[in-house]
Amino acid sequence: MLFDRVKPLDAILATAEKKSLHRSLGAFQLTMLGIGAVIGTGIFVLTAEAAQKAGPGMMLSFIIAGFVCAVAALCYAEMAAMVPVSGSAYTYSYAVMGELIAWMVGWALILEYAVAAGAVSVGWSGYVVGLIENAFSIDIPDMLVLGPYDGGMINLPAMLIAGLVTWLLVIGTKESAFVNSILVAIKVAALTLFIVLAVPVMNMENFEPFSPLGFAGVSAAAASIFFAYVGFDAVSTAAEETKNPQRNMPIGLIGSLGVCTIFYLLVAAGVIGSVGAQPVTDTGIAIAQGGVALAPGSAELSQRCAALAAAGSEQVVCSKEALAWTLREIGWPQIGNLIGLAAGLALPSVILMMMFGQTRIFFVMSRDGLLPAVFSKVHPKFHTPHVITILTGIFVAMFAAFFPVGKLADISNSGTLFAFAAVSIAVLVLRRTDPGRHRPFRTPAIIVTAPVAIAGCAYLFYSLGHDTKMMFVIWAAIGLVVYYAYSRKRSHVGRGHVEVHEADADAPPTSVPPIS
Ligand code: ALA
Repeated sequence: MLFDRVKPLDAILATAEKKSLHRSLGAFQLTMLGIGAVIGTGIFVLTAEAAQKAGPGMMLSFIIAGFVCAVAALCYAEMAAMVPVSGSAYTYSYAVMGELIAWMVGWALILEYAVAAGAVSVGWSGYVVGLIENAFSIDIPDMLVLGPYDGGMINLPAMLIAGLVTWLLVIGTKESAFVNSILVAIKVAALTLFIVLAVPVMNMENFEPFSPLGFAGVSAAAASIFFAYVGFDAVSTAAEETKNPQRNMPIGLIGSLGVCTIFYLLVAAGVIGSVGAQPVTDTGIAIAQGGVALAPGSAELSQRCAALAAAGSEQVVCSKEALAWTLREIGWPQIGNLIGLAAGLALPSVILMMMFGQTRIFFVMSRDGLLPAVFSKVHPKFHTPHVITILTGIFVAMFAAFFPVGKLADISNSGTLFAFAAVSIAVLVLRRTDPGRHRPFRTPAIIVTAPVAIAGCAYLFYSLGHDTKMMFVIWAAIGLVVYYAYSRKRSHVGRGHVEVHEADADAPPTSVPPIS
């Protein structure tokens, strides 16, 4: 019952075999692809969140989260190279562990993609609002640019960007490789500029106390900052276009995660060392003296931050644009605005990628009969799955309008960690049940790598806040109800139809290539 209705791997592969993409990507291009897909709101915005949870200890958090991603990525890559079709973790699970687990993974991927798109929209809003306010000396009322948890009412700019990206997806916008490489260059240049200006003015005293909230704080920050690494699956899914994947895939994955980790550590060190990154407490007294660190994204923290700002002693953990704020604070206001501009230009491509990923998962689930057929309806003129794109856009805009970035990122992480753990289990299971199958890429030392990845995902999931874990459980319970009330009866595999689709038919007819 739990593992029944396995979709035959050969049927899935028959679809994949019909597409034969030219193997052109080498280790360098893969690494660039990964760096472009990964850098986003995590480092630009969540650095402040991580500082509130761990203080300077967030340096360790970046290393832990990067390590878990690296081992999960190696497992992901074996599946992606072997089953190179869209639907990612959902499709892999269907082939190995059956429909129920696949449904739960697909359901969790809604958190990974749609909620993450909301988080990046809120991150974008923070930078763009900060840029407008600082560059043009305009004061935009908080009520209109912050959600209720952050002391406002509605985050209109975040809604606006989510709406704009939805529209671009509906009309079938494709991002060219050229635009993609420009955006990657902008992000990397912005972080490099930040490091060059902030690291030389570091004061080592700002690293003390290093982890005011102990290892629990470091773990909690690692669970949040995990968001900063999400997106590397773009590398795994390029397996079928990779020359010599056995050699180049691990270099691409570990290379891009390694480069991002170094950037993140330098940026984090720059923030901590230049402006200090101790958590804000309820009374202003240090934690060692009995102060209590306030929860990120809480009304209490935003009230305390407002009081500190009024008294002229704002902290980086209060900022919605941590990197730009830090540069303004250390005497580079114009460069701070430039960083805001870079984030404003580059972050929408991350939103586009996330929302596109979401529509593709919905599309595949709908085509399998698990979601209503209307979800895979294609627009007669634009040839895009407009119904599901608009529906996704409405939800993303709602998340973005009313929730703080850190909460959204944490919820998204819960779904991603579940999906990564499922894929790591699937890889291990398939090695046992189908050892002879051709594997273009084999996870190195899988007997160690997969269990470490599963344990790492479980540890980060456990380190998420109680509310986030409860949200995940409620979401999973709703998923089970939907499955048994609707999807199970209508499943094509359940009814005995196993379709082999035409060439690219597992993707919406007009597809946006992986971007940023
Ligand atoms: N890693 C991506 C970001 O930080 C999702 O925005």
